[in-house]
Amino acid sequence: MDSHKKLLLTNQAWVKDKLEVRANYFESMAADQKPDFLWIGCSDSRVPAEEITGTEPGELFVHRNIANLVIHTDFNVLSVLQYAVEVLAVKHIIVCGHYNCGGIRNALTNRHFGLINKWLRHIKDVYRVHRTELDGIADEEKRARRLVEINIMEQVWNLAKTSIVQKAWRAEGRPYLHGWVYDLHTGYLKDLLMLTPETRLDELYKFDFDEQS
Ligand code: CO
Repeated sequence: MDSHKKLLLTNQAWVKDKLEVRANYFESMAADQKPDFLWIGCSDSRVPAEEITGTEPGELFVHRNIANLVIHTDFNVLSVLQYAVEVLAVKHIIVCGHYNCGGIRNALTNRHFGLINKWLRHIKDVYRVHRTELDGIADEEKRARRLVEINIMEQVWNLAKTSIVQKAWRAEGRPYLHGWVYDLHTGYLKDLLMLTPETRLDELYKFDFDEQS
């Protein structure tokens, strides 16, 4: 019941440690943020963005949700994306998923979960688009792993389909978009996909910015 107290105590020790190394650590941190990276990851407690990438406070702008989805009607992820691209001017956006993802696993079942059905539905839609490949994988575990990878790549493409990214690509030649997968069993990240401002997007999803938008 009191396990939360450990967190508060650990915070006090952490502050002391930081101040011992640099007396103005918090003052300088509070002044501004200028992260180069937007991280869009899964909410899973075993995939802490800063820890697995060895980054410090101030280096990653972070958004996490179940199964690291980029949904074009989700104001939360879009607001984070717009702020990161237009105000913070991040150079890279990383979508990081992970094998053994509960969101992906559950989307592969027919179980009724209530509200979260609506979120997991997006993963079922990804499956449907890649049905031929996925249905062809007989081993359930391998099929789930492949869906994890495909889902990450689809979310990277979803970023490219936004007017926010397309505008920045055209005007500033950034950000680069990356799809990475994290392996809980080994601790390693694997690079799956990178889209650059030169990437050719399906005509269907391109925006014409010649007119005022
Ligand atoms: Co997950």
